Amino acid sequence: MSAQWWRDAVIYQVYVRSFADSDGDGVGDLPGITSRLGHLRDLGVDALWVTPFYRSPQHDHGYDVADYLDVDPLFGSLEDADRLLDRAHELGLRVIVDLVPNHTSSEHPWFQAALAAPPGSPERARYLFRDSDDGPPNNWGSVFGGPAWTQVADGQWYLHLFDTTQPDLDWRNPEVPAMFEEVLRFWLDRGVDGFRIDVAHGLFKEESLRDQVLESDESASSVALTGDHAMIELKLRDEPMWDQPEVHDVYRRWHEILDEAGPDRMAVAETWTQTPESTAAFVRPDELDQTFNFAWLLAAWSAEAFATVITDTFAAVEPVGASPTWVLSNHDVVRHPSRYGGGPRGLARARAATMTMLALPGASYLYQGEELGLPEVDVAAEHRQDPAALRLGTPGRDGCRVPLPWSGEQAPYGFGPGSGQPWIPQPDDWASLTVAAQQADPGSTLSFYCRALSARREHARAAGDSVDLLDLGEDVLAFRRGPLTVVLNCGSRTVDLPEGEVLLASAALDSHTLPADTAVWLR
Ligand code: NOJ
Ligand code: MG
Repeated sequence: MSAQWWRDAVIYQVYVRSFADSDGDGVGDLPGITSRLGHLRDLGVDALWVTPFYRSPQHDHGYDVADYLDVDPLFGSLEDADRLLDRAHELGLRVIVDLVPNHTSSEHPWFQAALAAPPGSPERARYLFRDSDDGPPNNWGSVFGGPAWTQVADGQWYLHLFDTTQPDLDWRNPEVPAMFEEVLRFWLDRGVDGFRIDVAHGLFKEESLRDQVLESDESASSVALTGDHAMIELKLRDEPMWDQPEVHDVYRRWHEILDEAGPDRMAVAETWTQTPESTAAFVRPDELDQTFNFAWLLAAWSAEAFATVITDTFAAVEPVGASPTWVLSNHDVVRHPSRYGGGPRGLARARAATMTMLALPGASYLYQGEELGLPEVDVAAEHRQDPAALRLGTPGRDGCRVPLPWSGEQAPYGFGPGSGQPWIPQPDDWASLTVAAQQADPGSTLSFYCRALSARREHARAAGDSVDLLDLGEDVLAFRRGPLTVVLNCGSRTVDLPEGEVLLASAALDSHTLPADTAVWLR
């Protein structure tokens, strides 16, 4: 693989709590991941991105960090992290870790010191504490619902764009960038191959902390986790809390730090910005390497919508020379088989969309469990743990975070050595979805993913960077990439295929035609 290995990599997201449990406490952990790395090698991915495993009270399942330089005992130890890195590297897998710079946990020593110190103190100046006599200092809402400000005992308010236990740092205070440079170096020295940067478009807020100008139909949260389906909704709006120009200086500095560590270290940013241009700014040559491209994940099942996503994606990254990225599922959104309608049809569509994505130039990010075709689970209200669900009163994001089924007939399906239910209960009809059951079945989603990833290595990787959309009718997405022709049927009628040898299909084909909800690669 080249130094810039990430440009065409398949990167598998491991949600630590829910991948594999080594000690029987019902929560996934680092030794659990290490013990199951063979699954990722057999699947044929290039790298894994591991969600936060640092010391944390787990109010947002690790996205609330109390110590960036240590592993939470729930997940293991620093030695377990080293072992995970070593074993992954032995197997030829790269490892990306999550970095959470926008906010700390309220249990971080800095925030505890801020609470113990008086208003105006240097301890408070690492966060955004403000005075206000008549309610919160401005009208900003938390992404997780409710106001973005909480009042402390002496009357001051602090800003938290997420949960109350996730106070936002003041990135204008030089102590803050200095601390994160140390964190980057610490993990680079331990051998990580890159970072996934949480809320990378956050960090700086407009210095005045002025009110957000809201249209009459807008609610006071910027990126809303809305409705039944925890779908994230993007709209053009006034956002003094996100995407401020100063943030780019931070990433220019981080670029230097990554470079010093070697040419093969990378960073991928989570940037919910408002336009393709503002997203592309994060991947200018002297900043970060990739941003997640959420456009496809937000698009409805429609050939026209998918074609627009493809065109817009290339148009956005080409001017800055960055590689595109693609993603259909992650730990914050409804799993794509369920988004596409659920049941056999949702799964057929999900396989077809995945296969289409995997044919495109750039990097593809997969989310654990999608290789098993797992559906979104309707988690009973009493088992919900997502702070967004608790604050918004919605089902939230637990339904895509249910622990993986590995083997066996009943919960915990080999997830861990215990016999009881893991931290989120698994459904009682998952026996046929386990890794072991699917390995034995050539028609399974797992077997399909293995075939698709192997076909990608064999036929797509060397097929060049340019993609030409083809017109095969209104409900059909089709494109050519070098010798490859890819066709996805989003309509309800079977369509005739252009000539060519079938390399890969998302479902069995009867003749040289493509049924609804199916995709094919031809050569
Ligand atoms: C984005 C993460 O993906 C999400 O899970 C988390 O809740 C927020 N950032 C806050 O850190
Ligand atoms: Mg455990």
